[in-house]
Amino acid sequence: MTKTVDPAIPQPAPIGPLAGAPTTPLTEPRGLVGPTGTFGVETYRKRRHALMDKLGTVPTAALIAQEMNWVGDREGMDYYYLTGIEEPGGALLLMPTAPVFKERLFLARHDVEDERVSGERASTPSKALEVATGIASIGREQKLVPYLVGACSRFGSLTYVGAFSGEGDKPKVMDYYAKTMERVYGCKTNDLHLTLARMREVKEPEELALMRKAIAYTAAGHAQAIKVIRAGAREFEVKDAVEDAFRHAGARHVAYDSIVGSGRDGAVLHYPKDDRTMNDGELLLIDAAAEAENYASDVTRTYPVNGKYSKEQRDIYDVVLRAQAAGIAAAKAGVTVEQIDLATRKVVEDAGYYDYYVHGCCHFVGLAVHDAGDYYAPLPVGAVITVEPGIYLPDRGLGVRIEDEILITATGAEVLSKAIPKDPDEIERLMKLNHAAP
Ligand code: GLY
Ligand code: MN
Ligand code: MN
Repeated sequence: MTKTVDPAIPQPAPIGPLAGAPTTPLTEPRGLVGPTGTFGVETYRKRRHALMDKLGTVPTAALIAQEMNWVGDREGMDYYYLTGIEEPGGALLLMPTAPVFKERLFLARHDVEDERVSGERASTPSKALEVATGIASIGREQKLVPYLVGACSRFGSLTYVGAFSGEGDKPKVMDYYAKTMERVYGCKTNDLHLTLARMREVKEPEELALMRKAIAYTAAGHAQAIKVIRAGAREFEVKDAVEDAFRHAGARHVAYDSIVGSGRDGAVLHYPKDDRTMNDGELLLIDAAAEAENYASDVTRTYPVNGKYSKEQRDIYDVVLRAQAAGIAAAKAGVTVEQIDLATRKVVEDAGYYDYYVHGCCHFVGLAVHDAGDYYAPLPVGAVITVEPGIYLPDRGLGVRIEDEILITATGAEVLSKAIPKDPDEIERLMKLNHAAP
């Protein structure tokens, strides 16, 4: 049937180029997201496949939501670990037994008005976006619950692969799973919590290369600290100099809010201020480090403000240094973090300072400074942890912490941050050199 057109009614313009519109084709697709660092899509694809292998052959689906957040340090890095994508929002759904699309990415909503503020994004479908992300099936976040409902009706279960934690916000994945179960009779959740954490514990060679790079930036900052520490300076002057040196060396971000505490402030574990004037005869605790492509480092040194430790300071420093050495000596594959903790604590206890060592010795480091990992399982080869004993005596106006990162090997540990001086004689020698300089 032929449609008659009433000439009195305005008709829409035909679809196609408007008369007079520029005809130059776009040379670059706009707003593509994909891995932001130097690792290509293959690195992330391999990790997703390794995770799907761990899900086994029973039909199920696992969701990993984008929860990357800065709370003074990074958290929520599972999605980034599997996709390399930093864009906020979105989630990754893995369905190892699906016949075709085993991986499905749900990106944040496409909103042209928001994008005038926060930057243009690619539309879907987009072959270029699929190539950039390395994922062949891409939708939008608003379709996630309907899709999960479909997946759970089909597979009978959803599997949780993140970590459980009583701290911070509840993971978004748990909300998505709860909403799905409200709509599907018999939908179950399987618990494979810590699966991703255990994968992230073992650093791949290319991750280790970035972690070494972050430590090199950190070393530049601590070398600068030795040059600028002096009585009469404010803590923030040292902090700025250290952070500037990180950036000058090539770092883009600090790994966490730097802690620079002199005198009694050195006994405040996460001292948030930085405005005190340092006095002759005090110690300055600097817990500051850089990151490289989101891989953190974490190093603490405790320096004498006037370039020389007093007898009391040196005695306490030596106890902490011996405690750290005992922890490092105890570290190897198969040992647990608790065993290393006990080794450090024994030295501090024998010296009479047990009550003044007020935190744990060690944590994993990686995409988060307090990284994912199983703190109660034997350490695997390739894990990176800190060893950071401390003694805190606010009534005596001091805190001492010495913190290094170690790489766990089959027979022991490599101190990754060994280039950053911690021997007290060496620190005094370097400070004297710098203080003597014109
Ligand atoms: N920089 C924080 C910590 O040492 O855990
Ligand atoms: Mn630490
Ligand atoms: Mn630290």
